[in-house]
Amino acid sequence: MLYPRVNPTTTRAWGRLVREAQWFCRRPRALTQLFDEDPTRATRYCLQVGPLYLDYAKNLVRRQTIDHLCLLADEVQFDSARSALMSGALINETERRCVGHMRLRHPDPPLEVSLERKKMAAFVAQLHSGALRGYSGEVIHSLVHIGIGGSGLGPKVVVSALAHLRHPNIRLHFVENIDPVALDEVLAQIDPAHTLFLVASKSFTTEESMRNAARARAWLQGYAGEKKATRQFVALTANPTAARAWGMDGAHIFRFWDWVGGRFSLWSAVGLPIACALGFDQFEALLKGAHHMDTHFEQAPLKENLPVLLALFSLWYANFFHAQSHAILCYSHAMRDFVCLIQQIAMESNGKSIGRDGTRLSYTTAPIIFGGEETCAQHSFHQLLHQGRHLVPCDFIAPVQAGKDASALLAHCFAQSSALMRGRTAQDVAASMKAEGASRSDIKRLRLHRSFTGNRPSNTLLLKDLSAESIGALIAAYEHKTFTEGVLWNVYSFDQWGVELGKTLAVDVQRALKDPSKGNSQGLDAATEALIKAAEHLRQARSKGH
Ligand code: F6P
Repeated sequence: MLYPRVNPTTTRAWGRLVREAQWFCRRPRALTQLFDEDPTRATRYCLQVGPLYLDYAKNLVRRQTIDHLCLLADEVQFDSARSALMSGALINETERRCVGHMRLRHPDPPLEVSLERKKMAAFVAQLHSGALRGYSGEVIHSLVHIGIGGSGLGPKVVVSALAHLRHPNIRLHFVENIDPVALDEVLAQIDPAHTLFLVASKSFTTEESMRNAARARAWLQGYAGEKKATRQFVALTANPTAARAWGMDGAHIFRFWDWVGGRFSLWSAVGLPIACALGFDQFEALLKGAHHMDTHFEQAPLKENLPVLLALFSLWYANFFHAQSHAILCYSHAMRDFVCLIQQIAMESNGKSIGRDGTRLSYTTAPIIFGGEETCAQHSFHQLLHQGRHLVPCDFIAPVQAGKDASALLAHCFAQSSALMRGRTAQDVAASMKAEGASRSDIKRLRLHRSFTGNRPSNTLLLKDLSAESIGALIAAYEHKTFTEGVLWNVYSFDQWGVELGKTLAVDVQRALKDPSKGNSQGLDAATEALIKAAEHLRQARSKGH
């Protein structure tokens, strides 16, 4: 045991937090009152870490709330947990693995990491110089990245966020889904003579990626012939043996290691597409930004620690206000997929109900992360954020972009968090309706519909710019937030057993689906059997043109 297993509900802090939450529940307009009582709140409840600025003043917290939350962190011995993480210890105990993704972004990494980085840099240089050639001697300028989950999301999100930094000659496509349409769509856009496929899979056994890689190779073989086609494939994996068995030679295998969790792997060879699309210098800037956040997370006192504060607030709402979800709202078209990455990091890590001592938890863990691209989401689910019965804490994330047009985006971002906090009383609605000349009956009929309770909490994270360094720091901040939450909730954050059962069952279901007439459905439940029959029925009707 590397750090103590403490049930947070048994701490002194927990009881204090219960009472603190009652204080807030008795004050339905606590947020605005706190601002009224303390004119310095807006400027005190904020933090600058490198390129990131966190405004946490619009949280349902006062000085003593933060004291109690930090006491909770002390009582669960967060310090020793953080030291165990930063030392690369074996804290993924259920999988018996060390956790060391911070080493990947360290300026002075272990030898194996720096050798692999050099190999990646050389590959990128070759690609950008036009030295990488396809089966017919043509220059490679298109890359197709095949990978799912952590092996796909990280690079996809980073490349999209930094699209403005793309190398002008390189085109990059991502294929994640097992749905053949995903690959077919890309194949229709590329020229086989100019294309290289990157197959990212830590295990090199994941069904989606292996199927897509096999289909892509079969497609390429149609043009290049059997032998030459495989040379246009590169593996990014922690299982080089499997990659070799697939046909890749050593020069085309970029390694990472067991101690890199899938959802934390974009900093490793899995980040090769980032380096290819943006340049190796940009990949290094990404690592630099993340390392800056690592150092901050390791050294800053709890009350000034950005990921720690985010985690403490998350627990505060989940466990004391029954918030079941958390919205990530990115005011940036380029960051439109960011929420997907945070969803995986947070929900795959902490979506658990068994504690580190092996017993069933009596309290809530990870909230459901959802969100989207702003301002689009404002015209979709924000209605519920403002007037729904659920309390949904929000993270507003916005890069501070230059230009007049960009300030419209920022204006919406700030206005939304302000509206959530301030709300609007029925009296206020009535007064302004009256001033607009509305009839008394209309005012009576509509004033409640048009009022807002307010008092809804949010964080605002501003990025100095949309640079690789800022994005690196932001992703690392959410990684550390997630780790901190896991320590507070006393769960193992680095395994993901919950994804296994479905994968196993899918094998049996596929067998039954392939040939329903053979009665292959033994062992499946009645509901699944019925679905298989219904699908078969629909297929037959379709083939008969009904
Ligand atoms: O199914 C979950 C998962 O194991 C993720 O944790 C991982 O990122 C993803 O699958 C892909 O796995 P691999 O990199 O081994 O293909």
